[in-house]
Amino acid sequence: MNQPTLDEIGVWSEIKLSIIREYAKSYSQILAKQPNLHHRYIDGFAGAGMHVAKRTQQQIAGSPLNVISVEPKFREYHLVEVDRPKADHLRGLFRDHREVSVHDGDCNDVVLNKLLPEVTYKSYRRALCLLDPYGLHLDWAVIHKAGQLKTIDLLLNFPMMDMNMNALWNDPTSVKPDQAARMTRYWGDASWKTAAYPDEETLFGPRPKKADNEAVAEAFAKRLKDVAGFKFVADPLPMRNSTKATVYFLFFASQNQTAHKIISHIFKKYRAEGGF
Ligand SMILES: C[S@@+](CC[C@H](N)C(=O)[O-])C[C@H]1O[C@@H](n2cnc3c(N)ncnc32)[C@H](O)[C@@H]1O
Repeated sequence: MNQPTLDEIGVWSEIKLSIIREYAKSYSQILAKQPNLHHRYIDGFAGAGMHVAKRTQQQIAGSPLNVISVEPKFREYHLVEVDRPKADHLRGLFRDHREVSVHDGDCNDVVLNKLLPEVTYKSYRRALCLLDPYGLHLDWAVIHKAGQLKTIDLLLNFPMMDMNMNALWNDPTSVKPDQAARMTRYWGDASWKTAAYPDEETLFGPRPKKADNEAVAEAFAKRLKDVAGFKFVADPLPMRNSTKATVYFLFFASQNQTAHKIISHIFKKYRAEGGF
């Protein structure tokens, strides 16, 4: 087996892992009390299962292990990873867990066409789905499907830094077409151009001006509700690096008010602790 090189993760990713674990515990506690419901975990960008913490240089468990360690257990766990050595590493970690399936492949295919379609309302299935790409590698179709099903609680990485570095430049006319296309793919259509460059009054009439990160995230939250069909979208948590730049926003979207209250409570705690 090819050993993967473990990814080094920053403090913001350690915070994300704590949030995932805390929410997964509450979610599973509530769902397990309803024996007619079958709840599963879907991790669309699962990683190798282990990382190295930049802070301590120690190995640290990734999102799959954080969720699988939660009691009560989910009925099934589906882990998707495109990188073969990482997927094999995951397979090794969960060799003795029949309830865990590792899927080699692209989240934009496997989650969209195989895993989400199984989680129908009528079949009494429900899922907590984590979509945690490093950058603009996710297709809106996956997010949209998750919203339309009405069975999914979604934790989503909104990769602000990749957007700012490659697509949301102060001068939008210099952005390369392939980078604008990556942005459109994640956003779902070209309406990000209006959201990210609202008109500002100048002496020469209205001119587009780049919006700040919060305004872009707010416009995306509105899409999660109005276009994807999630009933509740929590105020997203900005995950910042040591220079206080926002690496990504962590979004949570769901159909359920209790879920919304629980995650808002968790986000509030980390917002206060991390000065976010
Ligand atoms: C941010 S890491 C995931 C970290 C993991 N969620 C955790 O917290 O432990 C993103 C992972 O997605 C994988 N990846 C990138 N593009 C992908 C795709 N299209 N489908 C599935 N996995 C992909 C990368 O190889 C990488 O391991």
